[in-house]
Amino acid sequence: MAASKFLPLLSLSLIFVLGVRAQVQTPPTNITTGFVRFANATRQVSWFYTQGGLVAYDGDVVFGTVAEFERALINVTYTSEPERLSTKRRSYPPSLDSIVKRANSIFPGSSGLWPGGQVFYRYFDSDTESKLKVYVEGALKAWANEVPCISFVKLSNNNDPNGSNGIVTIKAHNPNVFYCSASQNYDSTKSLWMELDTGGGCGIPEVTHEWGM
Ligand SMILES: *[C@@H]1O[C@H](CO)[C@@H](O)[C@H](O)[C@H]1NC(C)=O
Ligand SMILES: *[C@@H]1O[C@H](CO)[C@@H](O)[C@H](O)[C@H]1NC(C)=O
Ligand SMILES: *[C@@H]1O[C@H](CO)[C@@H](O)[C@H](O)[C@H]1NC(C)=O
Ligand SMILES: *[C@@H]1O[C@H](CO)[C@@H](O)[C@H](O)[C@H]1NC(C)=O
Repeated sequence: MAASKFLPLLSLSLIFVLGVRAQVQTPPTNITTGFVRFANATRQVSWFYTQGGLVAYDGDVVFGTVAEFERALINVTYTSEPERLSTKRRSYPPSLDSIVKRANSIFPGSSGLWPGGQVFYRYFDSDTESKLKVYVEGALKAWANEVPCISFVKLSNNNDPNGSNGIVTIKAHNPNVFYCSASQNYDSTKSLWMELDTGGGCGIPEVTHEWGM
């Protein structure tokens, strides 16, 4: 099971974050770069808009809704669409740091940890649930078997486009986009998301990956 790959990492840190690595097969081309305020730091990152109307950065990490992202956005330093640029533009490439180093590690006691080891999640709607349940539940089972101190709590479906603070809302791509993405850390102040292809493109190994670091 794919989860076993991550266990050495996990047991070292004894930390669970809702984390992600790329399952990106088709990287989006419409990319913007700029400085963004994160809970713990200001970073220069590159982002794109997902099909589901969210903002993703670092390849496949969901930041949150467009409104949440715009509140955190400080400035734009590069865009793949020059004609869209305002006077804010200064075109320099993103720092190597923000391209190469994925901020996957969370320090003990940091706010990115799930309180009580409980991860709350829900499906966007019943259609999403019926299409993705087999992969999501399979991945959660893999995590529960390997890391018993984490529990996943399923809440009732909710199709609020703004999501729910501190709760992972799972959405299905339609049509599929050939990558899966998810929010990275627990954050009680913004919506958390997982966006997946249907039909097995984001299968149990990939979704297991999306649930872990
Ligand atoms: C690129 O993203 C911007 C939003 O940042 C959007 O307005 C524009 O239509 C997108 N362009 C393409 C080609 O998708
Ligand atoms: C963007 O914001 C960052 C962080 O505040 C700052 O260091 C940088 O100089 C700004 N860049 C531009 C082009 O305004
Ligand atoms: C912020 O990040 C630094 C390391 O980059 C870490 O030492 C510190 O504990 C973090 N604080 C919080 C509240 O996450
Ligand atoms: C979602 O958030 C936006 C901006 O914060 C707000 O204008 C809108 O009314 C909200 N939508 C819903 C359905 O709550």
